[in-house]
Amino acid sequence: MHYFEYKKGELYCERVPIRRIAQEVGTPFYLYSYRTLVRHFKVFDEAFEKVPHLVCYSMKANSNLAILRLFVTLGAGMDIVSGGELYRALKAGADPQKIVFSGVGKRTDEMEDALKSGILMFNVESSMELQTLNEVAGRLGIKAPISIRVNPDIDAKTHPYITTGMKQNKFGIDILRAPKAYRLASELPNLEVVGIDCHLGSQLVDVEPFVEALKKLKALVEDLRKEGMEIHYLDLGGGLGITYNDEEPPHPYEYASNVLDEIQRFNCTLILEPGRVIVGNAGILVTQVLYTKENEEKRFVIVDAAMNDLVRPSYYGSFHQILPVQMDTREEIVADVVGPICESADFLAKGRKIPKPNPGELFAVMSAGAYGFSMSTNYNSRPRVAEVMVRDDEIHVIRQREDYEDLVRGESIPDFLIHP
Ligand code: LLP
Repeated sequence: MHYFEYKKGELYCERVPIRRIAQEVGTPFYLYSYRTLVRHFKVFDEAFEKVPHLVCYSMKANSNLAILRLFVTLGAGMDIVSGGELYRALKAGADPQKIVFSGVGKRTDEMEDALKSGILMFNVESSMELQTLNEVAGRLGIKAPISIRVNPDIDAKTHPYITTGMKQNKFGIDILRAPKAYRLASELPNLEVVGIDCHLGSQLVDVEPFVEALKKLKALVEDLRKEGMEIHYLDLGGGLGITYNDEEPPHPYEYASNVLDEIQRFNCTLILEPGRVIVGNAGILVTQVLYTKENEEKRFVIVDAAMNDLVRPSYYGSFHQILPVQMDTREEIVADVVGPICESADFLAKGRKIPKPNPGELFAVMSAGAYGFSMSTNYNSRPRVAEVMVRDDEIHVIRQREDYEDLVRGESIPDFLIHP
């Protein structure tokens, strides 16, 4: 459910015609609907109201400050994965006591910053990391609250690049080795065991892997408690999928109702780390058609957005619906929708049926709110695009389009090259 809708053949975001935003900010740009963001967050949060819980929005999906701030005002915590994300979270006013820090490669400076700001817990992913965190915490005279990210070896049945809970993945500590890691953690003087964590992967369209993981974790938690360890938090990670094309992922209520029975048996505060399900369908990428061309085999529609702006199609072969901003009855063609970048992998869609485009017309690349802007780069020296949030009939630019100066910021030419 989102608020990008056609009114008399013209695509709107809430009460604003998208064409008008393009006139104001140029193209391409990311566009987010405030009302959709709020709705998605609230629906997800309310689905778990029966149990004590905390929704830590996984900010890697979309870390624009305005979006973070919005979720903070709705009571969200944050799931972070780097010092940079901690910085953004705090800048957006997030309560450190609602921040969880995941990731296989936390640096000591990042640990230090997180400890100093007093985050809720570190989701630790290796025994070496436990040792390092213990040392850093000791130096600061602070006890580091930890949970161990357990890898339950469950196939999340999603794209291999976004599966994380299997033995061949780098993430977490194997469930069979987890008790040993927990023992180590409870012996280290500057760590405090507070929880257990797992994250299975992303874009899961089935609840079964979650239920299976919970069953495996339950047995482990019982053993740990028998050994005197206190497990207050159960962090189930993120991963709930969305509809890009014809996927039928469970609604958050269905997801919750399928896992709540298992969760209640843990007697823990539940932590969830949703990313995509909150922001994915709350954002689109608006692009303009530049040219069309064809050969005997193919037709190409060349647009001004490219793989540097939205990498998901090139990287994962992901499907994003492409809709004309001006809908009318006209001939349809089958074409590759491609960008201006010098790579054959630079496409937004392949062999896609779309209305025969007119040069200059606007297309909306749908479901681009998650892992869209946050994965964008400056490849081919393309300034990163603007981000806009619409609330009702208001247009807010929440990130300026970069300019050429931004492209070279921080670069310098050594003297010996200036006067050779
Ligand atoms: N928690 C942890 C520890 C994670 O690694 C992730 C995502 C999440 C939560 C949020 O998962 P979500 O609810 O968004 O599925 N770039 C890929 C997705 C990578 C996901 C990485 N981790 C894509 O565009 O599909």
